[in-house]
Amino acid sequence: VQAQNKITLHTDEADTKINREIYGHFAEHLGRCIYDGLYVGEGSEIPNIRGFRKDIVDALKDMKVPVLRWPGGCFGDTYHWKDGIGDKSKRPSIVNVHWGGVTEDNSFGTHEFLDFCQVIGAEPYINLNVGSGTVQEAAEWVEYITSNNQSPMTDLRKQNGREEPWDVKYFGIGNENWGCGGNMTPEYYANLFRRFSTYCYGAQYRIAGGANVDDYHWTDVLMRETKNVPHLINGLSLHYYTMPGGWPPSRSATDFGKQDWHDTMYEVLRMDELITKHSNIMDTYDPNKRVGLIVDEWGTWFKSMEGTNPGFLHQQNTLRDALVAGVGLNILNNHSERVKMANIAQMVNVLQAVILTKGDQMLLTPTYHVFKMYSVHQDAQLVPMHLASEKYEMNGRTLDALNASASVKDGVLSMTLCNLNPDKDIEVEYEVTGDEYTMASGQLLTSKNITDYNDFDKSTEVVTKPFKVSKPKNGKVKFTVPSKSVLLVQLQGE
Ligand code: AHR
Repeated sequence: VQAQNKITLHTDEADTKINREIYGHFAEHLGRCIYDGLYVGEGSEIPNIRGFRKDIVDALKDMKVPVLRWPGGCFGDTYHWKDGIGDKSKRPSIVNVHWGGVTEDNSFGTHEFLDFCQVIGAEPYINLNVGSGTVQEAAEWVEYITSNNQSPMTDLRKQNGREEPWDVKYFGIGNENWGCGGNMTPEYYANLFRRFSTYCYGAQYRIAGGANVDDYHWTDVLMRETKNVPHLINGLSLHYYTMPGGWPPSRSATDFGKQDWHDTMYEVLRMDELITKHSNIMDTYDPNKRVGLIVDEWGTWFKSMEGTNPGFLHQQNTLRDALVAGVGLNILNNHSERVKMANIAQMVNVLQAVILTKGDQMLLTPTYHVFKMYSVHQDAQLVPMHLASEKYEMNGRTLDALNASASVKDGVLSMTLCNLNPDKDIEVEYEVTGDEYTMASGQLLTSKNITDYNDFDKSTEVVTKPFKVSKPKNGKVKFTVPSKSVLLVQLQGE
């Protein structure tokens, strides 16, 4: 029997890579994510690089964004890419029917998105329109972006100022096709997926629209119906939002108590069960784990902030969101064998955003600081662990109080740990088998109150601070994890 709050790490068994794409983001045409968010246009008085806010670009580079999904979401299955290329003054507009009914001028299109990805150093992930689009439209978009041949589409690209094709690897074929992406049955969508994917020559990594939450039947049908056409599918998506109280989102992002906190921790921990069960189904058709599970929408979803357009999904981001990010990323890391990419929703001003803006002001949310802290795991080797945690109980529901993952890269062992209990500091002991480590350092994110957040007049309320850890002795290191915190401890040799 293992002692409580003891974590055993096996560095000599670290043979699975944590794909850096697990640290991915999502930017949909929704509310103030793109327009009046990351994109203000060249004419703006806010300092910008070809229309992209400079302060946002700098912050994102610092946090490291490996991959960015665009243009939706539900918007993606209404989007017609040809309306977003060429002379901006001549581009037709589009009504964003899902998100607030606002009219957009299409000034942020394919060239702008791919330019933005290059500026921030992210791989692009483009979601094609299956719900209201045609196979021809999708095929031509892939051709426009990736082809080296001489063709009407590549001529058009060149006319629009881009000689060389872009190196875009990831293409999603539809989004939430069980809902806003066409209200299809899995059997019908599976056939449509096969048809669309057949003509997407040039798409190196094709991602099928996947299940919502615990719709295991969807995953089963998609895996079964694509088993004999492996060249058409590389990934299958999964969407899961942490939404205490369920749909529709009714709980406040900032005004909550201990029960709400506990409910939220329960909901984010469900990611482990959901990923395990979807992975088990995938294993029956794909035991070698060739098809990646792509968790391309996850994060918190609360009631929209008062005074904002409810269709804009604008919410604040507290210490609780930081815990959700820390726990979610630990779970995704620990499933690296099957999970090849994940995209938190969404990058700026929408849902669990890493950045919020107001006019020319910008702030980094607690979630931003967790992503930056955890970036040490990107492309590192996952270290298998055994964690025996004490419990955190409330009104008859019991959770593990501790949640962790660990990785090793370039001789540095990085251990991330969350203490979910808002009332109790917990002493933990790590035992490391394999390598010898003699030095330790740490970073901690916590705050006085569970509801603390960063605002435009107090932007450093919840930030990462240095954390002192004593030197490891005989492969063991002990420290106390403060209540309601996200912690990174790193060990290395001399
Ligand atoms: O991220 C917000 C929305 O949530 C997306 O557009 C959709 O795919 C999901 O339902």
